[in-house]
Amino acid sequence: MKKIGKYLSAVLLLCVVTVAQAQLKPNEIVTANALFADNGCSGCHDFASKLVGPSWQEVAQRYKGKKVTAKITNVIRSGGQGKWGDVPHPANEGIEKQNATLLAKWILSGAPQN
Ligand code: HEC
Repeated sequence: MKKIGKYLSAVLLLCVVTVAQAQLKPNEIVTANALFADNGCSGCHDFASKLVGPSWQEVAQRYKGKKVTAKITNVIRSGGQGKWGDVPHPANEGIEKQNATLLAKWILSGAPQN
């Protein structure tokens, strides 16, 4: 019986972890696409082609399986340089942290369009 209890708690824990990493909700995807379009990101980033900055596909690929949401959120808001080339990514302090976090999650999950 004890063993079953342990097994069950392991399964439960796995569920919690899985839910925590679940895909973005449909309304979050809509919001993220709007944030991308409204904050000038699209001048330098595209879904599949490298522009001034890396494509979302490239970014998602590079960080696949890594827990970098906080780091990427920080880059989006405070700027970053040297990971993809010499051109810096500009600071966007005007984007609220929760919106930058959503953008980071969205980009890292492959930037779904709908
Ligand atoms: C003026 C052009 C420009 C704009 C506008 C811009 N970026 Fe960038 N972005 C870049 C460049 C260039 C890089 C590569 C920086 C590097 O080499 O580390 C980059 C890198 C990134 C990365 C990868 C960061 C990393 O550490 O790997 C993310 C994510 C990103 N940008 C998101 C955004 C978002 C979201 C917006 C809109 C709020 C945005 N960018 C607006 C040019 C831009």
